[in-house]
Amino acid sequence: MKPISLVLMLSLLATAATWRSRSTSAVQENVNAPHYSAEHRLLRPENYREWVYVSSGLGMNYAPVSRGAHAMAPVFTNVFVNPESYRDFIKTGRWPDKTIFALELYSSADRGSILQSGHYQQTFLGLEAEVKDASTPEVWRYYGFGVDRPEAEAFPKAMCFNCHEQNAFVEHSFVQFYPRLLDVAIAHKTLNPGKTVPVSRTR
Ligand code: HEC
Repeated sequence: MKPISLVLMLSLLATAATWRSRSTSAVQENVNAPHYSAEHRLLRPENYREWVYVSSGLGMNYAPVSRGAHAMAPVFTNVFVNPESYRDFIKTGRWPDKTIFALELYSSADRGSILQSGHYQQTFLGLEAEVKDASTPEVWRYYGFGVDRPEAEAFPKAMCFNCHEQNAFVEHSFVQFYPRLLDVAIAHKTLNPGKTVPVSRTR
């Protein structure tokens, strides 16, 4: 074989290998992207418990609490985000398109087994999701799957979007309540306009 054709063959092989690895990583990048039914309903993200754990809230209320609510056991919220978007956020302090958050609700208990004080998570109460999708008019959309619904249509804006739009610290996400992500957003200076962190948290 002439040297020139050997060189040509090697370079063709190298190109093919690069192309193959690129297409593989493109497939990997999208595995956790939001999936929709033909009617644009979000499919329940079944594997969210394999995603990155963001943080938990306990008994968080966003309106003045009535006497009755105090009597109720506080509810836990556990937040997860798809790993591809988490990695981007660590690098940039921003959420890429096709980010999906899962928020699960658990009842709490304060008596059980050897427990003398404190709270632990007990019964699964439901799953909610928040999706950044630039192909939708609102860009950020909200969904509720309850305990076992396989798909959900987006909530009207007044139910979820408006509070997130007005109060969240980074785009629509409540990073002010997620200490690790808050550090990242402060470092990248990506807090929404007008949002400032308490002095004790700034570096
Ligand atoms: C009055 C304000 C308010 C409304 C209304 C609201 N949320 Fe949130 N949401 C929050 C706060 C505060 C957090 C962060 C604390 C937590 O973990 O519960 C949050 C967190 C979330 C998260 C985790 C990701 C993130 O943005 O930080 C999801 C998912 C979510 N909400 C979905 C919903 C859905 C679905 C609805 C409508 C049914 C809704 N929210 C309505 C205040 C609100």
